[in-house]
Amino acid sequence: MNLFKYILITFTALFAVTTQSDVTQRFYLKVEAKDSFQRTLIANTGAAIEGVDSDYVTVIANREELMLIRKLNFKTTLLETQYSLFNFPIKDDPYHNYHEVLSNLEQIALSNPHLVRLESIGKSVEGLDLWMLRITEDVESNIDTRASALFLGGHHAREHLSVEVPLQLANWLVDQYAQGNLRVKQLLSQREVHIIPMVNPDGLEYDIKTGSYQLWRKNRAPNANGTVGVDLNRNYSYQWGTGGASSNPSSETFKGPHPFSEPETTAIKNYIEKHSLIKILLSFHTFSELILYPWGHTDQPINDNTDYQTHVKMAQHMAKWNKYKATSASDLYIASGDLTDWSYGTHKIISFTFELDPKAGNFWGGASSGFYPGPSLIDPVFKKNLEPSLFLIEYADNPQRFLSVHE
Ligand code: ARG
Ligand code: ZN
Repeated sequence: MNLFKYILITFTALFAVTTQSDVTQRFYLKVEAKDSFQRTLIANTGAAIEGVDSDYVTVIANREELMLIRKLNFKTTLLETQYSLFNFPIKDDPYHNYHEVLSNLEQIALSNPHLVRLESIGKSVEGLDLWMLRITEDVESNIDTRASALFLGGHHAREHLSVEVPLQLANWLVDQYAQGNLRVKQLLSQREVHIIPMVNPDGLEYDIKTGSYQLWRKNRAPNANGTVGVDLNRNYSYQWGTGGASSNPSSETFKGPHPFSEPETTAIKNYIEKHSLIKILLSFHTFSELILYPWGHTDQPINDNTDYQTHVKMAQHMAKWNKYKATSASDLYIASGDLTDWSYGTHKIISFTFELDPKAGNFWGGASSGFYPGPSLIDPVFKKNLEPSLFLIEYADNPQRFLSVHE
């Protein structure tokens, strides 16, 4: 090889590496913003808003989104430019990876054949099964006959606590039933509980597989421009792409090439369409300590006043238990294509998103402390969200009846 050719090849290779890392690099920053109008401008750059305070938000953005935010004249403070995080396995061992979730679910199902059924509702982009646990008394003869509540976790890869809480809920219900807890027995003889603890297994495994957290959010779909990942909570079809969702595949909030382009969201769509007894739904995310209800894509309240009041009153009621702040999703910032806008908008399912603990990442720990708060939070966060979960199961027959009970 002559020298010129060698230099050319080396240069080309170097260039490719630089542009690639530019596209994948993530910035963690604080942006001054005081209301939902300003927060929506920020969300519209494609950056992911991860924490909301009265006068600023914390944001994870790629380079392009960071430039856009600065162009809009927002005051930004960089907290971290790259992540060198601790290892998953030792410190955070109590968290469940895909195979640990699966063996836990299998064990519950095998030892409680009359109470529990485990089903795969579809496959992820990389071919992992999306597991659904269904719990109801005498499940063989009563499957699909009882009023139902659906719980989901792990839409976003790095939000590991959002997997643990629904997984613990499944374990708790089954244990308590076995121990003769009358309240649980009563609930499970009249309701069916559906639990999908891990909507995005590919993303979750990617986040932990190197031993250092990747701060990954999206799924692992290969995009047309060579980047990876669609934001599953921007991929549902109701008012898809109408704000706070990006059409740029490298963005943290890429909405996908079309609504329900992803097998993960499609599996949930198909499942919900097949199970019309699901009248109530809760989607766990982290973090910020919030209870959110539709709409997310518009500042307008939902049209039907009874349904609106049902969301508001139920959210406020649940907030008494977990001390989270109850508010409409759009009050945070406008974002379109999330699960709850679709499940309410299309199926009139009373729908909530919980942003679990912590309230904020601490300043020195940066993003890692918000998404990776360590195993000590698993139990207390499950416990404070148990009553809200039982409450939703109880009202799954007719959520609107809470309005008359409440008054
Ligand atoms: N933080 C979650 C997400 O980014 C929930 C979004 C809720 N909707 C909204 N309009 N803020 O997907
Ligand atoms: Zn999330």
